[in-house]
Amino acid sequence: MADFPPLRNDLLLRAARGEETERAPVWVMRQAGRYLPEFRKVREDHEFFEICRTPTLATEITVQPIRRYSGLIDAAIIFSDILVVPQAMGMEVLMNPGPSFPSPLDTPDDIAKLRSKVDVKKELGYVLEAITMTRKELKGEVPLIGFCGAPWTLFAYMVEGGGSKTFQKSKSWLFKYPNESKELLGRIADICTDFLVEQAKAGAQLLQVFDSWAGELAPHHFEEFSYPTLRYIAEGVKRKLTEAGVPGVPMTLFAKGANQSLDAMAQSSGYDVLGLDWCVEPSHARSLVKGKIALQGNMDPNALYGGKNAIEREVQRMCASFKVAGKTKAWIANLGHGITPGVDPEDLKWFFECVHKYSEN
Ligand code: CP3
Repeated sequence: MADFPPLRNDLLLRAARGEETERAPVWVMRQAGRYLPEFRKVREDHEFFEICRTPTLATEITVQPIRRYSGLIDAAIIFSDILVVPQAMGMEVLMNPGPSFPSPLDTPDDIAKLRSKVDVKKELGYVLEAITMTRKELKGEVPLIGFCGAPWTLFAYMVEGGGSKTFQKSKSWLFKYPNESKELLGRIADICTDFLVEQAKAGAQLLQVFDSWAGELAPHHFEEFSYPTLRYIAEGVKRKLTEAGVPGVPMTLFAKGANQSLDAMAQSSGYDVLGLDWCVEPSHARSLVKGKIALQGNMDPNALYGGKNAIEREVQRMCASFKVAGKTKAWIANLGHGITPGVDPEDLKWFFECVHKYSEN
């Protein structure tokens, strides 16, 4: 492993371990994104996946929010996308402006078109390089988060060929071809495991798995098709890092909308942190997870459009609701999903300032 500058802000890592912190660490999903004028400037000259594949550009964009919000923000997340994994499996993915796959998987016969073995270091080496470069560029200011998409969410994109409102194709697979679906989900899970292990080796200090479409599944389908792959990934990553003699890193599971399974995920997922969307009250989530796991989240991203007073009110109530016996503990402040393109960067700054103020112990 490369030698990196010492970390000067470990709030994120302490909260992920379940500790009480002087205030809540805070970052936001999609913080390096279209709401930032400096990001849009780089996008004028470069395609989305071109940026992902060019470590100098990915590094530059990853550190943009760290520069802008220096002293207010407690983590960087590597600039990339969950859809680099389907690309590594041999699928073509375009971004115009949302993701689209010219040749989605129509039937299980199409699984044969995918690469049967994926060498993550070869196919996704550009992400690993960007992580190492970013760790150096951050100079220890904040920790760097690595990530991947969850098997079910990636499966849904690969079968639907893009985003979906009904998930008709991907869910048809679960009903019609349950065994083949599990085979494909298992193949994706193996790649995710290797990819996260390599990200930690390259310098990622926390790993997050995004199951953005978990909430589209009936709870029993989540338990049957998604949850086993999520556990498999956490178990595999931790075991492989130990075997390689690499220090373990905390892992966050964001199974958006799977709020009926919070209790089970706290008990047996193998993750250190559970991400929450805004549809569950933090104090209720605390009572479900019974101190077994740290939490991340969960302000409705649309509150950032409500003006400074609304933002302050929402942050104040969120901070109070996440507290354990009146103390900020085992909590990473964030939104309940990604920040959207129309947000004024000054309003996000205010969000950060309010989190500092109202989460202070
Ligand atoms: O969080 C960060 O700042 C790190 C980078 C990151 C991106 N995508 C950059 C991105 C991360 C962590 C993701 C994850 C991702 N990508 C998810 C999971 C999180 C979630 O939001 O549920 C999903 C579902 C995707 C797939 C994806 N990529 C979609 C649906 C879209 C289009 C819609 C959108 O949100 O913009 C993307 C494009 C994308 N990924 C952009 C960025 C900054 C915008 C693309 C552009 O510049 O035109």
